Amino acid sequence: MDAKAEKKPKSTKKSAEAVVEPKAKKSAVAVLDPIQELSDNYRWREILPPLVDEARSISALRADLADVPVLTNDGKVTNVYHKLESESLVQRQDRMSVWRCLALVREAYLQLESSADEGVKGYQWNMNWKHTRAEVDQVYEACKILNLSSDETRDAIIASIFSDSIKNRGNFIVHNVHGSQAAALALSYFWDTTKEEYLQSVQRIVLAIKQHQIAPPEFMARTVAVLLARKLKLGTFEQVIRSSASDEREGTTNKYLVRSIYNKIGHPFDERYLTPDLARVQFTDEERGLLSQIGIDDWWVPHPKINSSKIAHALITGDHSINYNNPDGFAKIALIRGPATEAFFEDATIYDSLESAMASFSDSFNILLPEVRPLALHGIRRTHKAVTRVMRMMTELFSGVVEGPRESAKNIKGRELVAQALDRARRKNPEIFAAELSYTSDAGHKYQDRSLERVGCLLEEWQETFGEIPFSIREVNSNEPGPGRLPFWNSPLKYPKRNEQGQIIIDSLTPYEQKQFAFAQRIREIAVELLRAEQWFFSNAPE
Ligand SMILES: [Fe+2]
Repeated sequence: MDAKAEKKPKSTKKSAEAVVEPKAKKSAVAVLDPIQELSDNYRWREILPPLVDEARSISALRADLADVPVLTNDGKVTNVYHKLESESLVQRQDRMSVWRCLALVREAYLQLESSADEGVKGYQWNMNWKHTRAEVDQVYEACKILNLSSDETRDAIIASIFSDSIKNRGNFIVHNVHGSQAAALALSYFWDTTKEEYLQSVQRIVLAIKQHQIAPPEFMARTVAVLLARKLKLGTFEQVIRSSASDEREGTTNKYLVRSIYNKIGHPFDERYLTPDLARVQFTDEERGLLSQIGIDDWWVPHPKINSSKIAHALITGDHSINYNNPDGFAKIALIRGPATEAFFEDATIYDSLESAMASFSDSFNILLPEVRPLALHGIRRTHKAVTRVMRMMTELFSGVVEGPRESAKNIKGRELVAQALDRARRKNPEIFAAELSYTSDAGHKYQDRSLERVGCLLEEWQETFGEIPFSIREVNSNEPGPGRLPFWNSPLKYPKRNEQGQIIIDSLTPYEQKQFAFAQRIREIAVELLRAEQWFFSNAPE
Protein backbone atom coordinates (compact mmCIF):
# COMPACT_ATOMS: atom_id res chain seq x y z
CA MET A 1 0.00 0.00 0.00
CA ASP A 2 2.66 2.46 -0.96
CA ALA A 3 1.54 5.81 -2.17
CA LYS A 4 2.72 6.45 -5.70
CA ALA A 5 4.34 9.80 -5.23
CA GLU A 6 6.59 10.80 -2.43
CA LYS A 7 4.97 13.43 -0.28
CA LYS A 8 6.79 16.47 0.92
CA PRO A 9 6.97 17.13 4.68
CA LYS A 10 4.00 19.22 5.56
CA SER A 11 4.07 22.83 6.54
CA THR A 12 4.11 23.56 10.25
CA LYS A 13 2.00 26.70 10.08
CA LYS A 14 -1.07 24.97 11.57
CA SER A 15 0.69 24.36 14.89
CA ALA A 16 -0.78 27.50 16.47
CA GLU A 17 -4.26 26.02 16.14
CA ALA A 18 -3.21 23.18 18.39
CA VAL A 19 -2.89 25.49 21.40
CA VAL A 20 -6.32 24.83 22.89
CA GLU A 21 -7.40 22.91 25.92
CA PRO A 22 -6.14 19.31 26.01
CA LYS A 23 -9.27 17.39 24.95
CA ALA A 24 -10.21 19.74 22.15
CA LYS A 25 -6.58 19.85 21.10
CA LYS A 26 -6.46 16.13 20.52
CA SER A 27 -9.49 16.01 18.25
CA ALA A 28 -8.58 19.25 16.47
CA VAL A 29 -5.11 17.99 15.66
CA ALA A 30 -6.44 14.57 14.68
CA VAL A 31 -8.69 16.19 12.12
CA LEU A 32 -6.10 18.62 10.91
CA ASP A 33 -3.02 16.51 10.73
CA PRO A 34 -2.38 13.48 12.91
CA ILE A 35 1.11 13.07 11.48
CA GLN A 36 2.01 16.50 12.79
CA GLU A 37 1.06 15.35 16.26
CA LEU A 38 2.61 11.87 16.03
CA SER A 39 5.87 13.26 14.68
CA ASP A 40 5.97 16.08 17.26
CA ASN A 41 5.71 18.67 14.56
CA TYR A 42 8.10 16.86 12.18
CA ARG A 43 10.76 17.14 14.82
CA TRP A 44 13.38 14.86 13.21
CA ARG A 45 13.13 16.23 9.68
CA GLU A 46 16.77 17.29 9.59
CA ILE A 47 18.02 13.87 10.59
CA LEU A 48 15.57 12.00 8.38
CA PRO A 49 14.91 14.03 5.25
CA PRO A 50 13.14 12.35 2.30
CA LEU A 51 15.41 10.27 0.05
CA VAL A 52 16.87 12.35 -2.74
CA ASP A 53 17.45 9.45 -5.11
CA GLU A 54 15.42 6.48 -3.95
CA ALA A 55 16.67 4.02 -6.58
CA ARG A 56 20.30 4.76 -5.74
CA SER A 57 19.66 4.56 -1.98
CA ILE A 58 17.89 1.23 -2.29
CA SER A 59 20.62 -0.29 -4.40
CA ALA A 60 23.22 0.86 -1.85
CA LEU A 61 21.05 -0.72 0.82
CA ARG A 62 20.87 -3.99 -1.09
CA ALA A 63 24.67 -4.11 -1.34
CA ASP A 64 24.92 -3.37 2.38
CA LEU A 65 22.45 -6.12 3.32
CA ALA A 66 24.57 -8.66 1.45
CA ASP A 67 26.79 -8.47 4.55
CA VAL A 68 23.98 -9.63 6.85
CA PRO A 69 24.04 -13.41 6.98
CA VAL A 70 20.79 -15.17 7.83
CA LEU A 71 19.63 -18.74 7.78
CA THR A 72 16.75 -19.95 5.61
CA ASN A 73 14.31 -22.61 6.81
CA ASP A 74 16.24 -25.28 4.92
CA GLY A 75 19.64 -24.49 6.40
CA LYS A 76 21.11 -22.27 3.69
CA VAL A 77 23.10 -19.20 4.59
CA THR A 78 21.85 -16.22 2.60
CA ASN A 79 21.31 -12.52 3.24
CA VAL A 80 18.28 -10.80 4.65
CA TYR A 81 17.33 -8.98 1.44
CA HIS A 82 17.35 -12.17 -0.56
CA LYS A 83 15.48 -14.08 2.12
CA LEU A 84 12.56 -11.65 2.35
CA GLU A 85 12.35 -11.28 -1.42
CA SER A 86 12.47 -15.01 -2.13
CA GLU A 87 10.10 -16.23 0.57
CA SER A 88 7.44 -13.66 -0.38
CA LEU A 89 5.50 -14.13 2.86
CA VAL A 90 5.37 -10.37 2.90
CA GLN A 91 3.62 -8.90 -0.14
CA ARG A 92 5.67 -7.06 -2.72
CA GLN A 93 4.42 -3.56 -1.89
CA ASP A 94 4.94 -4.22 1.81
CA ARG A 95 8.51 -5.38 1.18
CA MET A 96 9.04 -2.18 -0.78
CA SER A 97 7.91 -0.14 2.24
CA VAL A 98 10.41 -2.02 4.38
CA TRP A 99 13.29 -1.32 1.97
CA ARG A 100 12.34 2.34 1.70
CA CYS A 101 12.37 2.74 5.47
CA LEU A 102 15.65 0.90 5.80
CA ALA A 103 17.25 2.97 3.05
CA LEU A 104 16.06 6.13 4.78
CA VAL A 105 17.52 5.28 8.18
CA ARG A 106 20.69 4.00 6.54
CA GLU A 107 21.26 7.39 4.89
CA ALA A 108 20.54 9.08 8.22
CA TYR A 109 23.10 6.93 10.05
CA LEU A 110 25.66 7.64 7.33
CA GLN A 111 25.05 11.34 7.73
CA LEU A 112 25.20 11.24 11.53
CA GLU A 113 28.35 9.17 11.45
CA SER A 114 30.14 11.49 9.06
CA SER A 115 29.47 14.48 11.30
CA ALA A 116 30.12 12.64 14.60
CA ASP A 117 32.75 13.93 17.02
CA GLU A 118 35.84 11.80 17.47
CA GLY A 119 34.70 10.48 20.85
CA VAL A 120 31.50 8.94 19.48
CA LYS A 121 32.74 7.65 16.13
CA GLY A 122 31.20 4.32 15.30
CA TYR A 123 28.19 4.70 17.56
CA GLN A 124 25.69 5.44 14.79
CA TRP A 125 27.09 3.37 11.96
CA ASN A 126 28.93 0.50 13.57
CA MET A 127 26.50 -0.01 16.35
CA ASN A 128 23.05 1.40 15.65
CA TRP A 129 22.91 0.75 11.93
CA LYS A 130 24.44 -2.71 12.10
CA HIS A 131 22.04 -3.61 14.86
CA THR A 132 19.07 -2.34 12.87
CA ARG A 133 19.90 -4.18 9.66
CA ALA A 134 20.43 -7.47 11.50
CA GLU A 135 17.26 -7.09 13.56
CA VAL A 136 15.07 -7.19 10.44
CA ASP A 137 15.53 -10.94 10.01
CA GLN A 138 14.82 -11.80 13.62
CA VAL A 139 11.69 -9.64 13.75
CA TYR A 140 10.61 -11.40 10.56
CA GLU A 141 11.18 -14.83 12.14
CA ALA A 142 9.24 -13.75 15.25
CA CYS A 143 6.35 -12.59 13.02
CA LYS A 144 6.23 -16.03 11.42
CA ILE A 145 6.01 -17.69 14.83
CA LEU A 146 3.34 -15.25 15.98
CA ASN A 147 1.35 -15.83 12.76
CA LEU A 148 1.24 -12.18 11.79
CA SER A 149 -0.27 -11.15 8.45
CA SER A 150 1.73 -9.50 5.67
CA ASP A 151 0.85 -5.97 6.74
CA GLU A 152 1.35 -6.73 10.44
CA THR A 153 4.76 -8.21 9.60
CA ARG A 154 5.60 -5.11 7.58
CA ASP A 155 4.55 -2.89 10.48
CA ALA A 156 6.57 -4.87 13.02
CA ILE A 157 9.67 -4.66 10.82
CA ILE A 158 9.16 -0.94 10.21
CA ALA A 159 8.69 -0.38 13.95
CA SER A 160 11.99 -2.15 14.57
CA ILE A 161 13.74 -0.06 11.89
CA PHE A 162 12.79 3.22 13.57
CA SER A 163 12.85 2.06 17.18
CA ASP A 164 16.50 3.06 17.69
CA SER A 165 16.80 5.48 14.77
CA ILE A 166 17.12 8.57 16.98
CA LYS A 167 19.14 6.95 19.73
CA ASN A 168 22.25 8.78 20.87
CA ARG A 169 24.36 8.85 23.99
CA GLY A 170 22.09 11.46 25.55
CA ASN A 171 18.49 10.28 25.04
CA PHE A 172 18.53 6.60 25.94
CA ILE A 173 15.68 6.86 28.38
CA VAL A 174 13.32 8.53 25.89
CA HIS A 175 14.74 7.19 22.61
CA ASN A 176 11.56 5.18 22.13
CA VAL A 177 9.45 8.34 22.00
CA HIS A 178 11.89 10.02 19.63
CA GLY A 179 12.00 6.91 17.44
CA SER A 180 8.21 6.79 17.26
CA GLN A 181 8.13 10.44 16.12
CA ALA A 182 10.73 9.66 13.46
CA ALA A 183 8.63 6.74 12.17
CA ALA A 184 5.52 8.90 11.80
CA LEU A 185 7.50 11.51 9.91
CA ALA A 186 9.24 9.06 7.59
CA LEU A 187 6.11 7.10 6.78
CA SER A 188 4.37 10.30 5.78
CA TYR A 189 6.88 10.55 2.90
CA PHE A 190 5.78 7.17 1.47
CA TRP A 191 2.22 6.61 2.53
CA ASP A 192 -0.94 8.57 1.91
CA THR A 193 -1.84 8.97 5.56
CA THR A 194 -5.11 10.72 4.77
CA LYS A 195 -6.38 7.18 4.12
CA GLU A 196 -7.55 5.40 7.22
CA GLU A 197 -5.66 2.13 6.67
CA TYR A 198 -2.32 3.93 6.30
CA LEU A 199 -2.96 6.07 9.32
CA GLN A 200 -3.87 3.07 11.45
CA SER A 201 -0.63 1.39 10.46
CA VAL A 202 1.34 4.50 11.37
CA GLN A 203 -0.43 4.57 14.73
CA ARG A 204 0.30 0.97 15.56
CA ILE A 205 3.92 1.36 14.48
CA VAL A 206 4.24 4.44 16.71
CA LEU A 207 2.71 2.56 19.64
CA ALA A 208 4.89 -0.53 19.18
CA ILE A 209 8.01 1.67 19.16
CA LYS A 210 6.95 3.37 22.39
CA GLN A 211 6.25 -0.04 23.93
CA HIS A 212 9.63 -1.55 23.06
CA GLN A 213 11.16 0.41 25.95
CA ILE A 214 9.93 -2.18 28.48
CA ALA A 215 12.76 -4.58 27.63
CA PRO A 216 14.88 -5.72 29.37
CA PRO A 217 12.68 -4.76 32.34
CA GLU A 218 15.13 -4.94 35.23
CA PHE A 219 17.81 -3.12 33.24
CA MET A 220 15.37 -0.39 32.22
CA ALA A 221 14.00 -0.05 35.75
CA ARG A 222 17.53 0.23 37.09
CA THR A 223 18.52 2.81 34.49
CA VAL A 224 15.51 4.97 35.36
CA ALA A 225 16.28 4.59 39.09
CA VAL A 226 19.95 5.50 38.56
CA LEU A 227 19.03 8.59 36.54
CA LEU A 228 16.49 9.68 39.16
CA ALA A 229 18.89 9.07 42.02
CA ARG A 230 21.49 11.17 40.25
CA LYS A 231 19.07 13.95 39.36
CA LEU A 232 17.60 14.12 42.88
CA LYS A 233 20.98 13.62 44.56
CA LEU A 234 19.78 10.59 46.49
CA GLY A 235 23.06 8.68 46.44
CA THR A 236 23.84 5.50 44.59
CA PHE A 237 21.33 3.06 43.16
CA GLU A 238 22.10 0.59 45.97
CA GLN A 239 21.58 3.26 48.62
CA VAL A 240 18.18 4.10 47.17
CA ILE A 241 16.98 0.56 46.63
CA ARG A 242 18.21 -0.76 49.97
CA SER A 243 16.92 2.17 52.00
CA SER A 244 13.83 1.26 53.99
CA ALA A 245 10.56 3.10 54.45
CA SER A 246 11.41 3.68 58.10
CA ASP A 247 14.54 5.54 57.06
CA GLU A 248 13.83 9.04 58.38
CA ARG A 249 16.67 10.92 56.78
CA GLU A 250 16.01 13.79 54.43
CA GLY A 251 14.94 12.64 51.00
CA THR A 252 13.25 9.50 52.24
CA THR A 253 10.06 10.26 50.37
CA ASN A 254 11.88 10.60 47.09
CA LYS A 255 13.76 7.39 47.76
CA TYR A 256 10.47 5.66 48.43
CA LEU A 257 9.05 7.00 45.16
CA VAL A 258 12.10 5.93 43.17
CA ARG A 259 11.85 2.44 44.66
CA SER A 260 8.20 2.28 43.68
CA ILE A 261 8.98 3.44 40.11
CA TYR A 262 11.79 0.87 39.91
CA ASN A 263 9.42 -1.86 40.98
CA LYS A 264 6.70 -0.92 38.51
CA ILE A 265 8.98 -0.57 35.48
CA GLY A 266 10.71 -3.80 36.44
CA HIS A 267 7.37 -5.72 36.27
CA PRO A 268 5.68 -4.41 33.15
CA PHE A 269 3.05 -7.16 32.92
CA ASP A 270 1.97 -7.07 36.57
CA GLU A 271 -1.61 -5.87 36.35
CA ARG A 272 -1.48 -4.33 39.82
CA TYR A 273 0.83 -1.65 38.43
CA LEU A 274 -1.02 -0.94 35.18
CA THR A 275 -3.83 1.28 34.01
CA PRO A 276 -7.20 -0.55 33.73
CA ASP A 277 -6.78 -1.00 29.95
CA LEU A 278 -3.32 -2.58 30.62
CA ALA A 279 -1.78 -0.10 28.17
CA ARG A 280 0.53 1.84 30.47
CA VAL A 281 2.17 1.75 33.85
CA GLN A 282 0.00 3.52 36.40
CA PHE A 283 2.22 6.03 38.15
CA THR A 284 0.98 8.21 40.99
CA ASP A 285 1.03 11.98 40.52
CA GLU A 286 4.12 12.20 42.73
CA GLU A 287 5.91 9.54 40.71
CA ARG A 288 4.98 11.37 37.51
CA GLY A 289 6.41 14.54 39.00
CA LEU A 290 9.79 12.85 39.48
CA LEU A 291 9.74 11.07 36.12
CA SER A 292 9.05 14.32 34.30
CA GLN A 293 12.34 15.63 35.66
CA ILE A 294 14.19 13.10 33.50
CA GLY A 295 11.87 13.57 30.52
CA ILE A 296 9.63 10.52 30.98
CA ASP A 297 5.90 11.11 30.46
CA ASP A 298 4.66 7.57 30.22
CA TRP A 299 5.68 3.92 30.14
CA TRP A 300 3.77 2.03 27.43
CA VAL A 301 3.19 -1.69 27.85
CA PRO A 302 2.40 -4.34 25.22
CA HIS A 303 0.46 -6.59 27.57
CA PRO A 304 0.18 -10.22 26.39
CA LYS A 305 -3.58 -10.16 27.05
CA ILE A 306 -4.03 -7.45 24.42
CA ASN A 307 -3.94 -9.11 21.02
CA SER A 308 -2.65 -6.09 19.11
CA SER A 309 0.47 -6.15 21.31
CA LYS A 310 1.88 -8.80 19.00
CA ILE A 311 3.45 -6.15 16.74
CA ALA A 312 5.49 -4.87 19.67
CA HIS A 313 6.26 -8.42 20.77
CA ALA A 314 7.68 -9.27 17.36
CA LEU A 315 9.86 -6.16 17.63
CA ILE A 316 10.93 -6.94 21.21
CA THR A 317 11.72 -10.54 20.26
CA GLY A 318 13.83 -9.45 17.30
CA ASP A 319 15.61 -6.85 19.39
CA HIS A 320 16.20 -9.37 22.16
CA SER A 321 17.51 -11.84 19.66
CA ILE A 322 19.95 -9.44 18.05
CA ASN A 323 21.10 -8.02 21.37
CA TYR A 324 21.33 -11.09 23.54
CA ASN A 325 21.10 -14.29 21.54
CA ASN A 326 23.56 -14.04 18.78
CA PRO A 327 27.26 -13.32 18.40
CA ASP A 328 26.76 -9.90 16.85
CA GLY A 329 24.63 -8.85 19.81
CA PHE A 330 27.35 -9.83 22.23
CA ALA A 331 29.76 -7.86 20.06
CA LYS A 332 27.53 -4.82 20.34
CA ILE A 333 27.27 -5.11 24.10
CA ALA A 334 31.02 -5.48 24.41
CA LEU A 335 31.36 -2.37 22.27
CA ILE A 336 29.29 -0.13 24.52
CA ARG A 337 30.94 -1.30 27.74
CA GLY A 338 34.43 -1.16 29.25
CA PRO A 339 37.12 1.49 28.74
CA ALA A 340 36.19 4.95 27.44
CA THR A 341 32.43 4.46 27.70
CA GLU A 342 30.02 5.59 30.42
CA ALA A 343 30.96 5.44 34.10
CA PHE A 344 28.35 2.78 34.86
CA PHE A 345 29.73 0.50 32.13
CA GLU A 346 33.24 0.28 33.58
CA ASP A 347 33.63 -3.50 33.54
CA ALA A 348 36.70 -5.08 35.11
CA THR A 349 37.30 -7.40 32.16
CA ILE A 350 35.84 -8.26 28.77
CA TYR A 351 34.31 -11.35 30.42
CA ASP A 352 32.26 -9.08 32.65
CA SER A 353 31.01 -7.23 29.57
CA LEU A 354 29.96 -10.50 27.96
CA GLU A 355 28.42 -11.67 31.19
CA SER A 356 26.26 -8.59 31.29
CA ALA A 357 24.88 -9.70 27.92
CA MET A 358 23.99 -13.03 29.50
CA ALA A 359 22.29 -11.28 32.41
CA SER A 360 20.27 -9.15 30.02
CA PHE A 361 19.30 -12.29 28.12
CA SER A 362 17.48 -13.73 31.13
CA ASP A 363 16.11 -10.35 32.17
CA SER A 364 14.51 -9.86 28.76
CA PHE A 365 13.65 -13.55 28.26
CA ASN A 366 11.15 -13.29 31.11
CA ILE A 367 8.87 -11.01 29.15
CA LEU A 368 9.03 -12.85 25.81
CA LEU A 369 5.81 -14.53 24.75
CA PRO A 370 5.99 -18.31 25.30
CA GLU A 371 5.71 -18.99 21.55
CA VAL A 372 8.96 -17.18 20.73
CA ARG A 373 11.05 -18.49 23.61
CA PRO A 374 12.42 -21.49 21.64
CA LEU A 375 13.81 -19.00 19.07
CA ALA A 376 15.67 -17.24 21.89
CA LEU A 377 16.95 -20.48 23.42
CA HIS A 378 18.25 -21.73 20.11
CA GLY A 379 20.03 -18.42 19.64
CA ILE A 380 21.70 -18.43 23.03
CA ARG A 381 23.10 -21.94 22.50
CA ARG A 382 24.60 -20.86 19.22
CA THR A 383 26.05 -17.73 20.82
CA HIS A 384 27.51 -19.65 23.70
CA LYS A 385 29.47 -21.80 21.24
CA ALA A 386 30.61 -18.73 19.31
CA VAL A 387 31.81 -16.95 22.46
CA THR A 388 33.68 -20.10 23.54
CA ARG A 389 35.53 -20.19 20.20
CA VAL A 390 36.42 -16.50 20.35
CA MET A 391 37.63 -16.70 23.95
CA ARG A 392 39.73 -19.80 23.21
CA MET A 393 41.38 -18.02 20.33
CA MET A 394 42.03 -14.88 22.39
CA THR A 395 43.40 -16.95 25.25
CA GLU A 396 46.02 -18.29 22.88
CA LEU A 397 46.64 -14.82 21.45
CA PHE A 398 47.36 -13.33 24.89
CA SER A 399 49.09 -16.36 26.36
CA GLY A 400 52.48 -14.91 25.52
CA VAL A 401 53.35 -18.17 23.79
CA VAL A 402 55.37 -17.68 20.64
CA GLU A 403 56.41 -20.54 18.43
CA GLY A 404 59.96 -20.61 17.11
CA PRO A 405 63.22 -19.42 18.61
CA ARG A 406 62.74 -17.35 21.76
CA GLU A 407 64.97 -14.52 20.60
CA SER A 408 62.79 -13.91 17.56
CA ALA A 409 59.66 -13.60 19.71
CA LYS A 410 59.75 -9.84 19.87
CA ASN A 411 59.85 -9.55 16.12
CA ILE A 412 56.83 -11.65 15.35
CA LYS A 413 54.29 -9.59 13.54
CA GLY A 414 50.64 -9.32 14.58
CA ARG A 415 49.30 -11.33 11.66
CA GLU A 416 51.63 -14.21 12.40
CA LEU A 417 50.64 -14.11 16.09
CA VAL A 418 47.00 -14.41 15.06
CA ALA A 419 47.69 -17.35 12.74
CA GLN A 420 49.66 -19.19 15.43
CA ALA A 421 46.97 -18.54 18.06
CA LEU A 422 44.20 -19.83 15.84
CA ASP A 423 46.21 -22.89 14.98
CA ARG A 424 46.94 -23.71 18.64
CA ALA A 425 43.30 -23.15 19.64
CA ARG A 426 42.15 -25.54 16.89
CA ARG A 427 44.69 -28.17 17.87
CA LYS A 428 43.83 -28.01 21.57
CA ASN A 429 40.03 -27.92 21.18
CA PRO A 430 39.15 -29.48 17.83
CA GLU A 431 35.64 -30.26 19.09
CA ILE A 432 34.58 -26.61 19.23
CA PHE A 433 36.03 -25.72 15.82
CA ALA A 434 34.74 -28.70 13.79
CA ALA A 435 33.38 -27.50 10.45
CA GLU A 436 30.41 -29.85 10.46
CA LEU A 437 29.05 -28.10 13.56
CA SER A 438 28.06 -25.07 11.52
CA TYR A 439 25.94 -24.10 8.58
CA THR A 440 28.07 -21.68 6.67
CA SER A 441 28.88 -20.25 3.25
CA ASP A 442 31.82 -19.11 1.12
CA ALA A 443 30.96 -15.53 2.00
CA GLY A 444 31.19 -16.50 5.67
CA HIS A 445 34.66 -17.98 5.33
CA LYS A 446 35.83 -14.93 3.40
CA TYR A 447 34.41 -12.70 6.10
CA GLN A 448 36.21 -14.68 8.78
CA ASP A 449 39.51 -14.43 6.89
CA ARG A 450 39.05 -10.68 6.61
CA SER A 451 38.34 -10.47 10.32
CA LEU A 452 41.48 -12.36 11.24
CA GLU A 453 43.41 -10.11 8.89
CA ARG A 454 41.97 -7.04 10.64
CA VAL A 455 42.93 -8.42 14.06
CA GLY A 456 46.47 -8.99 12.77
CA CYS A 457 46.65 -5.44 11.40
CA LEU A 458 45.34 -4.05 14.65
CA LEU A 459 48.09 -5.80 16.58
CA GLU A 460 50.69 -4.66 14.08
CA GLU A 461 49.55 -1.08 14.42
CA TRP A 462 49.90 -1.46 18.17
CA GLN A 463 53.37 -2.93 17.82
CA GLU A 464 54.46 -0.10 15.54
CA THR A 465 53.06 2.62 17.78
CA PHE A 466 53.52 1.26 21.30
CA GLY A 467 55.71 -1.83 21.07
CA GLU A 468 54.86 -4.99 22.98
CA ILE A 469 51.56 -5.99 24.58
CA PRO A 470 51.52 -4.24 28.01
CA PHE A 471 51.27 -7.18 30.38
CA SER A 472 51.39 -6.21 34.04
CA ILE A 473 54.81 -6.43 35.61
CA ARG A 474 54.92 -9.69 37.54
CA GLU A 475 55.37 -9.60 41.25
CA VAL A 476 58.67 -10.99 42.44
CA ASN A 477 57.08 -13.95 44.24
CA SER A 478 54.66 -14.85 41.48
CA ASN A 479 55.15 -18.31 40.05
CA GLU A 480 52.34 -18.12 37.51
CA PRO A 481 53.36 -19.28 34.07
CA GLY A 482 53.16 -16.95 31.08
CA PRO A 483 54.03 -13.33 30.58
CA GLY A 484 52.00 -11.78 33.43
CA ARG A 485 48.45 -10.60 33.73
CA LEU A 486 46.77 -8.43 31.15
CA PRO A 487 44.27 -5.87 32.43
CA PHE A 488 40.76 -6.17 30.98
CA TRP A 489 41.64 -9.68 29.82
CA ASN A 490 42.62 -11.71 32.88
CA SER A 491 42.95 -9.04 35.56
CA PRO A 492 40.79 -6.02 36.42
CA LEU A 493 41.41 -2.90 34.37
CA LYS A 494 42.28 0.22 36.29
CA TYR A 495 40.01 3.07 35.19
CA PRO A 496 41.00 6.73 35.29
CA LYS A 497 39.19 9.12 37.61
CA ARG A 498 36.45 11.33 36.23
CA ASN A 499 35.91 15.07 36.59
CA GLU A 500 32.66 16.65 37.77
CA GLN A 501 31.25 16.54 34.26
CA GLY A 502 31.95 12.81 34.17
CA GLN A 503 34.81 13.02 31.66
CA ILE A 504 37.79 10.80 32.26
CA ILE A 505 41.04 12.30 33.53
CA ILE A 506 43.57 10.14 31.76
CA ASP A 507 46.51 11.65 33.68
CA SER A 508 45.15 10.12 36.88
CA LEU A 509 46.76 6.91 35.59
CA THR A 510 50.48 6.29 35.37
CA PRO A 511 51.92 6.25 31.82
CA TYR A 512 52.07 2.43 31.86
CA GLU A 513 48.48 2.20 33.14
CA GLN A 514 47.47 4.55 30.33
CA LYS A 515 49.07 2.17 27.90
CA GLN A 516 47.15 -0.72 29.42
CA PHE A 517 43.97 1.34 29.25
CA ALA A 518 44.63 1.92 25.56
CA PHE A 519 45.35 -1.77 24.97
CA ALA A 520 42.13 -2.72 26.79
CA GLN A 521 40.31 -0.94 23.98
CA ARG A 522 42.21 -3.13 21.49
CA ILE A 523 41.16 -6.24 23.45
CA ARG A 524 37.58 -5.13 23.08
CA GLU A 525 38.05 -4.43 19.37
CA ILE A 526 39.50 -7.88 18.81
CA ALA A 527 36.63 -9.57 20.65
CA VAL A 528 34.11 -7.52 18.67
CA GLU A 529 35.79 -8.32 15.37
CA LEU A 530 35.92 -12.06 16.05
CA LEU A 531 32.38 -12.21 17.40
CA ARG A 532 31.08 -10.44 14.32
CA ALA A 533 32.73 -13.06 12.12
CA GLU A 534 30.95 -15.75 14.15
CA GLN A 535 27.69 -14.25 12.97
CA TRP A 536 28.31 -16.09 9.69
CA PHE A 537 28.37 -19.50 11.37
CA PHE A 538 25.03 -21.00 12.33
CA SER A 539 24.87 -23.87 14.74
CA ASN A 540 24.15 -27.23 13.22
CA ALA A 541 25.01 -29.16 16.37
CA PRO A 542 22.46 -31.36 18.13
CA GLU A 543 20.94 -29.53 21.08
FE1 LIG B 1 15.66 0.53 21.55
